Amino acid sequence: MKQINIKGATVPALGFGTFQLENDTAYKMVRAALEAGYRHIDTAQIYNNEEGVGRAIEDSGIPREEIFLTTKVWYEKLDKQQFMPSVEESLRKLKTKQVDLLLVHWPNPEVPVEEYIGELVKAQEKGYTKYIGVSNHTTTLLDKVLATGAEIITNQVEYHPFINQDTLNNYFGKNDITLTAYSPIAQGKVMGNDTLKGIGEKYGKNEAQVTLRWMIQQDGVMAIPRSSKEAHMKANLNIFDFELTPEEMQEITALRQDNGRIVNPPFAPDWD
Ligand SMILES: NC(=O)c1ccc[n+]([C@@H]2O[C@H](COP(=O)([O-])OP(=O)(O)OC[C@H]3O[C@@H](n4cnc5c(N)ncnc54)[C@H](OP(=O)(O)O)[C@@H]3O)[C@@H](O)[C@H]2O)c1
Repeated sequence: MKQINIKGATVPALGFGTFQLENDTAYKMVRAALEAGYRHIDTAQIYNNEEGVGRAIEDSGIPREEIFLTTKVWYEKLDKQQFMPSVEESLRKLKTKQVDLLLVHWPNPEVPVEEYIGELVKAQEKGYTKYIGVSNHTTTLLDKVLATGAEIITNQVEYHPFINQDTLNNYFGKNDITLTAYSPIAQGKVMGNDTLKGIGEKYGKNEAQVTLRWMIQQDGVMAIPRSSKEAHMKANLNIFDFELTPEEMQEITALRQDNGRIVNPPFAPDWD
């Protein structure tokens, strides 16, 4: 497994996502993912599955410190009154004293960046999380985050072959921030793409595997694919025995589209 080193943190470049997996499925799939070798698990308050994820980690018998666990504070909980109690509730559900990474899930125009980043840093100082980061933040918002002096290690954003994230990627390179790719296989839409399929045939890999390999061959990029099926979950981990050529990397990058974004709720910021 490739590891990403960033500001003292060591993070497996490939993690397991749990969006839309309800408690029981999340339990089953996280247990299976840990058994298969995943050591990086991504959840969030809004997924309503922290309890199942926590139980899976506990029952796995794997020492807690060997698993990199991320959760996210929902955008309606960012104000001073609600932030910390919401994190305490997450820790209770996850059955852990500390997560490895705590993210602000989405910005909220009604709560100043300085207020929620202040709470995020406080949560870290209290030992509720080892590392901190954000999600769905634009370069304009990131400027404000960095101006507070907070040492964020990542911005978790939508990233897959059909979306152009050059602006963010350039920003991350300059500011020592990693990109954690959510919806890395475009919520399944990479399947059936001729370019990805063609490249995969050479290596005996499918479109999802080629996409995830493309992802982790990029500097400072991590990916957290989700699946409700054991066979898919295992296949997504089976990407460390081949290497894409620079030409193939380029071909996949060229699949970007102008309107490739999939996740765009009404409360989304003004994207870069
Ligand atoms: N920060 C945020 O705002 C945010 C937003 C979205 C997601 N996320 C995080 O990122 C994770 C991943 O993103 P995502 O869940 O949106 O989408 P994704 O991982 O890109 O795609 C998941 C979909 O792909 C299918 N799939 C997975 N592996 C496959 C394979 N090997 N072959 C064929 N189909 C496959 C899954 O179906 P099956 O279940 O049938 O395998 C599922 O429908 C989430 O679970 C969550 O942890 C964060």
